[in-house]
Amino acid sequence: MSTLWSGRFDTEPNAAVFEFGASFRFDRRLFEDDVTGSLAWAEALANAGVLSKADADAIIGALHGIAERGRTDPAWVSGPDEDVHSFVERQLVERIGDAGKRLHTGRSRNEQVSLDLRLYLRRRIPLLQAAIRRLLRALASRAAAAGDACMPAYTHLRRAQPVLVAHFLLAHAAALRRDHERLAAAAAEADALPLGSGAVAGTNYAVDTAWLAARLGFSRVVANSIDASSDRDFVSAFLHAASLAMVHLSRICEDIIVFAGEEAGFFELSDAVSTGSSMMPQKKNPDPLELVRGKTGRVVGRLTGWLTTMKGLPSGYNKDLQEDKEAVFDAEDTLAGSLESVSVVVEGLVLNRERAAAAASGLLLATDVADYLVGKGLPFRRAHELVGLMTRRLLEAGRDFASLSIEEWQQYSELFGPDVVARITTRASVEARQTPQSTQPAAVAAALRELQGWLDGFDGPR
Ligand code: ARG
Repeated sequence: MSTLWSGRFDTEPNAAVFEFGASFRFDRRLFEDDVTGSLAWAEALANAGVLSKADADAIIGALHGIAERGRTDPAWVSGPDEDVHSFVERQLVERIGDAGKRLHTGRSRNEQVSLDLRLYLRRRIPLLQAAIRRLLRALASRAAAAGDACMPAYTHLRRAQPVLVAHFLLAHAAALRRDHERLAAAAAEADALPLGSGAVAGTNYAVDTAWLAARLGFSRVVANSIDASSDRDFVSAFLHAASLAMVHLSRICEDIIVFAGEEAGFFELSDAVSTGSSMMPQKKNPDPLELVRGKTGRVVGRLTGWLTTMKGLPSGYNKDLQEDKEAVFDAEDTLAGSLESVSVVVEGLVLNRERAAAAASGLLLATDVADYLVGKGLPFRRAHELVGLMTRRLLEAGRDFASLSIEEWQQYSELFGPDVVARITTRASVEARQTPQSTQPAAVAAALRELQGWLDGFDGPR
C-alpha cells in the first residue's frame, strides 16, 4: 500500500493497524467535496504563481474527469487508500503524473478534511431542513383538517384543559421550527474557510484566502491556524441540532403512540405504517414510532460520544478528530430516516373527533368554573377552593359539571347564574382564552396561517 507519507519509514505499515486507522470506507462520502476543495486550491496556487498555468490546467482537467467518474460510478470511489484525500491524489497522479504531485503544495490533510466536512454539511443540512418542512406541512394539513375538534391537553399525563386538536399539532410544529433554525445555525458555524492553515502554523505560499473563501462560497476565513486544525464546533453544533430534532420527533412519536392507542383512541394510524404480531392476531402496533423514539438514544449518543472525544484533545490536529465523520453521517442518516417515517405517519393520521371530544369534556373544565367565579368577583384562591370541593363531590357521585341543575350550582355559590350552563362547555373553554399563544380558535387559525405562509415562502404554495 502506498501512502502519502511512506518516505519517512523503512517498513510497510502493519496491515491490521493501517486498516484500523484508515477512514476511506466512510469518508468516501466526502469525495465530491474533496474534489471541489482541490479544484479551488489548484486555482489559488496558480493565482499565487506557485503552479504554472500548464500544471494548473492539467490538474483542473484531471480533477473534473475524476469528479465525473465518481458521479457516474459511485462504486469506483474505493480502494486500498488510507482516506478519500489519498484516493483523489492517487487518481490524479495516475492521470497526469508529476503535475498531480504538485497539488498538495502548501496544503495539509488537516485543513483539507475540515474543509471537506464543512462543504459536506453545507450541502446536506438543507436536505434535512426540507425533510423537516415536509413534516411541518403534514402537521399543518392535519391541523387544518381538524378544524374546531377538541381534545384534552395534559400535564403530568393527567387531563388538564381542553384544547383544539390543531393547537396540539401546532405545538409539535413549534418545536420543529426551532430545529430548522438550529440546523441553519450549525450551517452558519461551518461557514468558514480553513484553507491557508497548513498543518497547524499556516502556509508558506501567498494564497489569497479571501479569494478562496469567496470561490468556495464561504462568508469568512478562520481566524487562527492552530484553532482551525482542530476546531470541530460546527460538528458539535450539527450533532446538537440533530439530537434535539430527534428528541422532538421522539416526543411526537410518544404522543401519537399514546393518543392512537386503545385507551385514548383520539387518532387512528394508517394500516400502511402499522405492524402486526406474529402471535396475537388482533395487534396493530406503532413500530415506526417506537423505532424513532429508540433511535433518538443513538443520535444523542453520537453527540455525547463526540463531545467526550473532543474534551481531552491537546491543541492542533489529532487523529481522534477522525471520529467526527461517522458521528455526523450516522446522525444525519438517522435523522433523515426518522423524519421521513414520522412524516408518512402524520400524513396518514385519522382523527376520531368523538373520542377526542368526549375526553375533552367533564371535570377538566374545573379551571373554567373557577374563572367564572372570578368574573363574579370572588378571589381566585377562594374560587379554586370551592371548585375543588365541587370536584370532590362530583367524583364521589360519578357526575360532572354538565349534569348539574342550576339549583345544584347555586347550592355551591349564589354567584352562579343561569349563564353558567353555557359557559362551562368545552367549546366555551377554548373560546375564553385570550392570548395569541393560546388555544383560542382565532389565535390557532392565525398560527396555522403563519406556518403555512412560512412554508410557502420556502417551497411555494401546495
Ligand atoms: N482521515 C483523517 C481525518 O479524518 C484526515 C486527516 C489526516 N491527517 C493526518 N495528519 N493524519 O481526520
